[in-house]
Amino acid sequence: MWAELLPVGRSPASGGYRRYAWTGADADCRTWFQEQAEARGLAFETDRNGNQWAWLGDPAAGNAVVTGSHLDSVPDGGAFDGPLGVVSAFAALDELRGRGARFTRPVGIVNFGDEEGARFGLACVGSRLTAGALTVEQAHRLTDGDGITLPQAMESAGYDPDALGPDPERLARIGAFVELHVEQGRALDLSGDRIGIASAIWPHGRWRFDFRGEANHAGTTRLADRHDPMLSYAETVLAARREAELAGAVATFGKIGVEPNGVNAVPSLVRGWLDSRAADQASLDTVVTGIEKAARAYAAAHGVDLDVVRESFTPVVEFDHALRDELARILGTGTELRVPVLGTGAGHDAGILSGRVPTAMLFVRNPTGVSHSPAERAAEDDCVAGVTALADVLEGLACT
Ligand code: GLV
Ligand code: MN
Ligand code: MN
Repeated sequence: MWAELLPVGRSPASGGYRRYAWTGADADCRTWFQEQAEARGLAFETDRNGNQWAWLGDPAAGNAVVTGSHLDSVPDGGAFDGPLGVVSAFAALDELRGRGARFTRPVGIVNFGDEEGARFGLACVGSRLTAGALTVEQAHRLTDGDGITLPQAMESAGYDPDALGPDPERLARIGAFVELHVEQGRALDLSGDRIGIASAIWPHGRWRFDFRGEANHAGTTRLADRHDPMLSYAETVLAARREAELAGAVATFGKIGVEPNGVNAVPSLVRGWLDSRAADQASLDTVVTGIEKAARAYAAAHGVDLDVVRESFTPVVEFDHALRDELARILGTGTELRVPVLGTGAGHDAGILSGRVPTAMLFVRNPTGVSHSPAERAAEDDCVAGVTALADVLEGLACT
């Protein structure tokens, strides 16, 4: 499975993945998912929001146990963020069949669409729509960098954007969702454990800062006469770092747009996207308020206008305690496996679903902690331990 998926959407230049929602690479991932489902005799379906499902047993029976993750990527992402959870789901099912497991609950494998939000700016679009955490009107307004709307992109990929909407009946059939994911930090590496269980996801969001100045000639415009938005943007990036350090949080400007984007022109517009996250809501509010206040002061000093728009927000997620404890119990029985319980600053579809469905996550050790980068890694032994742990969990939850 891994070998088949590895070339899909991989940039030869960077070695990273560019699997953006509703593109050719995304379609190839989706075809792969469907083939994996059909090869195992699972019932395959795509829901109204473009999420893919593979079922063993009839989901209409209810109380289903679902596992899976996503196959899309950030720009030049790693191989593991997302795909490890989907590949491990199929592998865990194979393992259970090999064990001769007898299933008492329906088991589903899911590939949630557009988890990373790399193309339309909003993460977890598939799960948000399904959970009713994103309205159809909001989804219809999502636009990519080329001005293509989400409905247009879906339509050109052969999906029906008019079908988009909440799917409470589908969620009501799920008794537990367990997402396996590569760890995106070094906690497991430092503790010497292969596998961890998630406790919580930090509150996090994305804010767009539009600094509007005046385009002018780079050679002839006196410094004193400029309204250069790049300067206030640069100062804001430094302020973000400062505010995050003070609050023990994180803040990142990782995406920028510049107009007219000419070497010999003072820019008219600098648009920067802030991603900020903290362990608690109050710290996050302090960081973002502090950054915005600093940005307004810098903009005013340069005669530049500033608009700040919150593009998305996900409150803190505390995973279901009963399910978390059940996982710890299953993984602790009869094995040497110690399973630490970890919080994370990364967002996941599991976080979106957690308000609607009992949800848990398993993390697989990442030896460097690097993620959202081509350098993301997980050792084969650890991935196998992840599959075994996921199989144990599914067996404990869904088999006699
Ligand atoms: C998704 O991986 C995110 O945390 O942004
Ligand atoms: Mn990610
Ligand atoms: Mn992910």
